[in-house]
Amino acid sequence: MTFYKFPHHFLWGAATAAYQIEGAWNEDGKGESIWDRFSHTPGKTANGDTGDVACDHYHRWQEDIALMRQLGLKAYRFSIAWTRVLPLGAGNVNPKGLDFYDRLVDALCAANIEPFLTLHHWDYPQALYETGGWTNRANLHYFADYAALMAKRLGDRVKKWTTFNEPSVIAWEGYVSGEHAPGEQDALKARQVAHNLMVAHGLAVQAIRGVDPDLEVGIVLNQWMEDAADNEPRSIQNAESAWNRSQTTFLHPIFKGHYHPEFVAFAGGLPEIQAGDMALIAQKLDFVGINFYSRNLYNAQGRVDRVEGSEYTAMGWEVCAPALRRMLVKINSEYRLPPIYITENGAAFPDEVSPDGKVHDPRRLDYLKQHFIQTRLAMQDGVDVRGYFVWSLLDNFEWAHGYSKRFGLVRVDYDTQKRTIKDSGEWYVDVIRRNAVEE
Ligand code: FCB
Repeated sequence: MTFYKFPHHFLWGAATAAYQIEGAWNEDGKGESIWDRFSHTPGKTANGDTGDVACDHYHRWQEDIALMRQLGLKAYRFSIAWTRVLPLGAGNVNPKGLDFYDRLVDALCAANIEPFLTLHHWDYPQALYETGGWTNRANLHYFADYAALMAKRLGDRVKKWTTFNEPSVIAWEGYVSGEHAPGEQDALKARQVAHNLMVAHGLAVQAIRGVDPDLEVGIVLNQWMEDAADNEPRSIQNAESAWNRSQTTFLHPIFKGHYHPEFVAFAGGLPEIQAGDMALIAQKLDFVGINFYSRNLYNAQGRVDRVEGSEYTAMGWEVCAPALRRMLVKINSEYRLPPIYITENGAAFPDEVSPDGKVHDPRRLDYLKQHFIQTRLAMQDGVDVRGYFVWSLLDNFEWAHGYSKRFGLVRVDYDTQKRTIKDSGEWYVDVIRRNAVEE
């Protein structure tokens, strides 16, 4: 038995995102987001699923906070639905939307659960999209205005703020593959969106600090590891160039102040960059959030489609926890990073309710255990990880996959909205209580 003890103030939590759990898509004055529009368009999501109701968290948030207490969470990562507070993305404020988040934050604080807030987790205002969306520079300031509005309202209780969740997914899935809202397929536009998201990030960092310089501000980036399958120079080179092309897109500008040349070559040139952009993007952050799920593997021929002997999740992602440690050590040695939070990690498996009424999910439990251990080992290697948010608190709307992929520590029965803590959730209670993982 090995006992992996975590530091005293390690922030154990779970994460969600507004569109994936809230429902109430048009209630109490909420405006339309690009995800409302996208999921309402036939053929865009599995089974035509939408986030109209989702986990009905907008009405069940008290029950959900009770669940967080049962799990013993020390922190909860959630996002604000921009169009709930600013129905058109800018201009008129919706007081009922602000009140909702106000009550949520109050209740979290009363439960001793630290709120960890994401400003934008993909549900961009449809009205702003119609004026050019992220490609229109004039729109970028609206994101900063929205950030300031939220900081003014919640900054007395919320100390940790992140601007964007996974900008790469916004740019590439939204504007290249078109598998996510708004469903465009235009690589040059995507490159500009990626850059403009970074400018908007910089403006929002300034706006939040303008409200209160003591607020901690960061961003959440998804990083996969790019591994070589063997010691062949070609394999190593394939993995390395995949890393440079696709994993440096945001790390480089934020932490070095310029784009990686291999990313630029891959993207077919630089986006349009205005004077001052790079300094704005490279502002010092208080922390960085890293979402980790899996890795890609390369041999001398290229990417290995299916790794012999490996386990795969329902998303088709290889389970490879040691890749998390390697990735953390790599980014820690290549960049001068602020403290790190693992802002998402978890796995989808096709869980079922057993005759005993429980959800036995040993594969998810083991996935989490292995990733916790590898994180602890990375910390021993010198990486400053301060906390960990399991994706996700609840089974929820998994974007284009609809409700077909279950990531929750808690099962949601979508017909009755009944919540059931899974075995992995019960196990997590113990990890948090002991602040340790045992294997
Ligand atoms: C991440 C997203 C999150 C969830 C997980 C599975 O890319 O940030 O909303 O969909 O993947």
